[in-house]
Amino acid sequence: MGIIMGKMEIEKIIRKTCRSFEPYVAGKPIGTLKRESGLKSIIKLASNENPLGPSQKTVKAIKANLKKIFFYPDSNVYELKKALSNRYSLPAKNIFVGAGGDEIIELIAKVFFNPEDEIVMSRHSFIRYAMVAQLMASKAIAVSMTDDLTHDLRAMTKACTEQTKAVFVTNPNNPTGTYNTKAELSGFLKNLVLNKFDVKPLVVLDEAYFEYASLEKNYPDGLNFLKENPNLIIFRTFSKIYGLAGLRVAYGFASEEIVDYIERTRPPFNVNLLAQVAAAAAITDKTQVVKSQKLVKKEKEYLYKEFNKLKIKYVKSAANFILFNSLPLKGKELFRELLNEGIVIRAMDEYELPSWVRVTAGLHKENELFIKKLKKILKTRKSN
Ligand SMILES: Cc1ncc(COP(=O)(O)O)c(C=O)c1O
Repeated sequence: MGIIMGKMEIEKIIRKTCRSFEPYVAGKPIGTLKRESGLKSIIKLASNENPLGPSQKTVKAIKANLKKIFFYPDSNVYELKKALSNRYSLPAKNIFVGAGGDEIIELIAKVFFNPEDEIVMSRHSFIRYAMVAQLMASKAIAVSMTDDLTHDLRAMTKACTEQTKAVFVTNPNNPTGTYNTKAELSGFLKNLVLNKFDVKPLVVLDEAYFEYASLEKNYPDGLNFLKENPNLIIFRTFSKIYGLAGLRVAYGFASEEIVDYIERTRPPFNVNLLAQVAAAAAITDKTQVVKSQKLVKKEKEYLYKEFNKLKIKYVKSAANFILFNSLPLKGKELFRELLNEGIVIRAMDEYELPSWVRVTAGLHKENELFIKKLKKILKTRKSN
């Protein structure tokens, strides 16, 4: 039985921007789904995690530090920053860290976004950008993508006005998996015009799937643009290829001045002790990255082949997931039907793509089962 609480008119004191705030709908953990559905076995292909998990070296580092968790973590994140600095040949003063890319997006918003500032992003891009803009009472400006669901960087440049504080560019993009080339990114950075503050808008380059996309032709490494573009902030995460989504750790690159402001305003212990040691070990271990890249490349080919056979429309992806068309079913219907079969994918309604769904490339046997169940659902549909 719940405690009966006294009532107050809480709306009166809630910040205006928070009153209408809708929560982020996260992919549910397997335990929750099992509890809710009564299914014994569930395969989660919904949140772009790495089914190979973290490397052995990473797990070893976590285990070796388990008994130290009564200490606060290093507030200066010295070892992890040093490891990142070595890995990317960049001074530590140009590096910052956060509890996942999610927190990094928020840290940036807290430092820069004022009410009425305009924040430009793509219509079908990572939903947290619009959410943080709303949280800060800034205005999210959503720009249509090209017909092949790639960021229309020219249109995004044109959408920038005097009020534009920042532009989010996800490369490759989630949920479409498409990417912008070196030439496109370079032209975009060059063509941005000054805003009312007499500076170019910030460009927040989200490279959450960088390692997967780096296999693609003409995919740009954002770091190569940092020196020439002091308005650039880049971030990557340990949640995807490094298999550490559960630990919450990501990192960013920016000018010394920007990093200094982010450092001053972030919570002092935002990245926990185990996350710091795990990430420092993971970044030095290329084997797991290569293994994961190979798996995803092979499995995407398998999924494309099967989609072709089923005449399912899909978008070729530079990341570890594929966006595909769910018609004749609505995305949500296909999600539910697959869930009944023990497979979790992601419906795309909140991305304004109601007849599309996104599937993460899993292990081969998981992908095979997903295709088997998909075939079964589509066959039942046809015969009805
Ligand atoms: C494009 C993009 N950016 C950022 C994130 C946030 O990732 P995390 O907070 O796990 O680092 C995600 C996660 O799905 C993503 O897809």
